[in-house]
Amino acid sequence: MTLAQTSPSRRAEQDLVKGEFAFTADDFRHLAAMLHADAGIALVEAKANLVYSRLAKRLRKLGLDSFKAYCALVASPAGAEERQNMLAALTTNVTRFFREDHHFGHLKAQVLPNLIARVRQGGRARIWSAGCSSGQEPYSIALTLLSLMPDAGRFDIKILATDIDPNVIAEGRQGYYSAETCTPIANDLLTRWFQATGREGWTVGPELRQLVSFRELNLMGNWPMRGQFDVIFCRNVAIYFEEETQSRIWARFTAQLSPGGSLYIGHSERISGSAADLLSTDGLTTYRLRGAGA
Ligand SMILES: C[S@@+](CC[C@H](N)C(=O)[O-])C[C@H]1O[C@@H](n2cnc3c(N)ncnc32)[C@H](O)[C@@H]1O
Repeated sequence: MTLAQTSPSRRAEQDLVKGEFAFTADDFRHLAAMLHADAGIALVEAKANLVYSRLAKRLRKLGLDSFKAYCALVASPAGAEERQNMLAALTTNVTRFFREDHHFGHLKAQVLPNLIARVRQGGRARIWSAGCSSGQEPYSIALTLLSLMPDAGRFDIKILATDIDPNVIAEGRQGYYSAETCTPIANDLLTRWFQATGREGWTVGPELRQLVSFRELNLMGNWPMRGQFDVIFCRNVAIYFEEETQSRIWARFTAQLSPGGSLYIGHSERISGSAADLLSTDGLTTYRLRGAGA
């Protein structure tokens, strides 16, 4: 009899993945429910192998012998810190400098010139990289800004970079990247705004660092930011949420955009729900809130 043919109750107790630790469908359901409750991320059972391999390291480290014991730990008050580690282990942090580079071309040609003119006249401008991972996205935004406005640090133009995972926030703050990670950065920008760190890599320089503030923030929770944003990047984050959560998050971003503000989303994401009526698009996953110019 195959796993698919067994009764639901027996199936829940059988191992989903064969390996060092017992990992049943019940264990998977518990972990998926916690990840959904904490981060809005929807995990399907087809991801069982991935969950197993990412968390097996945690079980080994903690000296646990089964996922059942791990589930009990992360569900208990004593396991609050480990629950954070679980979240960090299960989020996907893949990113790159200038990923989906047409967004940066659009930002440079269509959006930043107005914002720069405004801040040069004494106004303010705010940009948010939501789900920023280890910092490559917000630093790419800052580099695009510096390429047009090398003295940006003297004006009231700032980039907020947030993520749920404290480990990637720490990496972004540290601002050290290997030479290979830096290959998408144009050489003139790299040598001007980074500092060579040995032969191995580059560290963000002071002018670049000054433009970006990193904060831990769960998009499912409250957003403490008071002001509105002229530009929001939220790319390759909502793809892990189910449809209803996506619609809710697009509506919240729309409410947080200033009139005429821009929203950039990932290439495989689409705006759904009530936000779709409030945003116009150029068809390249770049949206603008209908209203006055930015
Ligand atoms: C695949 S990375 C995308 C990084 C970057 N935006 C890009 O496109 O290169 C997704 C990021 O979203 C973060 N994330 C997932 N769920 C989140 C949530 N509920 N709140 C905030 N960040 C979240 C993950 O920690 C991860 O760093």
